[in-house]
Amino acid sequence: MEALTRECLGCRRCELAATRTHVVVGRGNPLARLMLIGEGPGQHEDETGLPFVGRAGQLLDQILASVGLDPEQDIYICNVVKCRPPGNRKPTPEETAHCRPWLQRQIELVNPAVVLLAGSTAMTGVLGIKTGITKMRGQWIEQEGRAYMPVFHPSFLLRNASRQKGQPKWLTWEDFKTVRARLDTLETSAQSSETLH
Ligand code: URA
Ligand code: URA
Repeated sequence: MEALTRECLGCRRCELAATRTHVVVGRGNPLARLMLIGEGPGQHEDETGLPFVGRAGQLLDQILASVGLDPEQDIYICNVVKCRPPGNRKPTPEETAHCRPWLQRQIELVNPAVVLLAGSTAMTGVLGIKTGITKMRGQWIEQEGRAYMPVFHPSFLLRNASRQKGQPKWLTWEDFKTVRARLDTLETSAQSSETLH
């Protein structure tokens, strides 16, 4: 991961290199079993070089903490594109394609059991799914030995702040509880196979 980070910091494969302040590679634990992939850096991320550190990131950390997941220890967080698209526009398919090898190597290095795809850009960018996020969120998609789950993007939750049952925020908490339960199951089976061996 250190080598990848070093290489990625010098990337000039697309025009986002010209307007970025920092390349935003990732944060958290590269050995975690859980990974979250967002869309791309915003202003705070571009300024600091770390993903999800603005308001959306604070909400994400809060959601993780509420299900007992430590944002430093229990997850590795990154984005589909590593450089900020000017004005926070969505990354283009070309930018996403140029950045894909970096993301692919991150997935392989972290080798997570569970991958959260935050928002439709990540869902489409990573799995090619074009069905709406509202339909897909909360569902497990098993692929190449990993369990992927699309979830609402934290920025979307900031714009839809109601906690009422059935609303996006409530649904997202349900999704993260489901994720936590799956991670707990992995933990238990890892322990019982250690006992067996
Ligand atoms: N939104 C994202 O998709 N990623 C970030 O890193 C910050 C905000
Ligand atoms: N649209 C998105 O792109 N993401 C969400 O999380 C919700 C709506």
